[in-house]
Amino acid sequence: MTKVVHQLIRSSYVAVVLMTLVLLGYFGFSFYNLPIEERYFHSDYAIFKPSGLLGHGLGIIGTLLILIGVFSYMARKRFHIFSRIGVLKYWLEFHIFLCSLGPVLILYHTSFKFGGIVSVSFWSLVAVVASGIIGRFIYLQIPRSIEGRELSWLEVQNMRNELNNELKTKFNVDISEIKTGKSFEVVSELRTLKLSASDFRKVKQLIVRQRLLTRRMARLDMMQNIFKYWHVAHLPFALIMLIVMIIHVAVVLTFGYKWIF
Ligand code: HEM
Ligand code: HEM
Repeated sequence: MTKVVHQLIRSSYVAVVLMTLVLLGYFGFSFYNLPIEERYFHSDYAIFKPSGLLGHGLGIIGTLLILIGVFSYMARKRFHIFSRIGVLKYWLEFHIFLCSLGPVLILYHTSFKFGGIVSVSFWSLVAVVASGIIGRFIYLQIPRSIEGRELSWLEVQNMRNELNNELKTKFNVDISEIKTGKSFEVVSELRTLKLSASDFRKVKQLIVRQRLLTRRMARLDMMQNIFKYWHVAHLPFALIMLIVMIIHVAVVLTFGYKWIF
């Protein structure tokens, strides 16, 4: 996949989630904005209520999106037979997309009425999404291979050495002689080397990457540990959410809510 295609896909993920959030809010505003006891008299009560045509549908579709998002990523990551299907980091982006869109639909399914035992499922969902955002941040701090595999200390060090070599052999720049950390001072130091405009740009990019790797190496151990503990938080909330959701679905089916079926 080229960089442009990848960027386009990522932007459409964000656009779809935001548009769904805004459009459902816009069309349902007059309903969701009413106090619970007055909603019954709203002309679209039968559509927007949690068991209504739209409300119930949002619950089902939102849940399906979350299940697909979770199990597809877990299968791709854990089972050897799926290990050749696509790049792992793209699957994580797909996980994040479906597991953000799903909760948006569930939010409108609840019609902002968080009562009963099923509210445990809803708040666990909120906790998983919030912890997911934190996890994504930590994930990005850990250097990875192109496929998204965590790199070992040695691999990161080799990567940094390669950058240093490239600077030395191609551009005759010795990174150890650039003492300052401030970018404007690095730029003025580079100016003294009288590089051509295109070399100047390349050297600047290489130095930025080298600096980033050095910073990440300094925190690698700590970040890997935090990420391990982070899994311990993300997974149980996901489990609680799934278990209570299964009970909720069993109860609503027992009460005869069948949506369009
Ligand atoms: C994580 C997933 C889900 C969450 C967090 C969730 C949450 C909720 C909440 C908070 C309510 C309102 C409870 C109340 O009236 O006080 C509700 C109602 C309802 N949900 Fe869900 N739901 C989920 C998935 C589903 C699914 C998959 C279905 C269908 C199979 C479903 C069907 C219903 C129905 C029919 C009602 C209305 C029940 C009634 O009016 O008594 N929900 N849900
Ligand atoms: C309904 C919401 C969500 C559920 C149920 C959920 C569930 C899960 C589960 C079960 C895993 C573990 C997969 C494994 O290790 O095999 C996972 C991993 C992960 N999720 Fe989520 N997730 C949700 C939303 C999110 C969101 C919104 C984000 C980011 C904004 C996110 C980011 C991550 C990250 C970074 C990982 C770790 C990937 C790795 O270590 O390989 N998740 N999620």
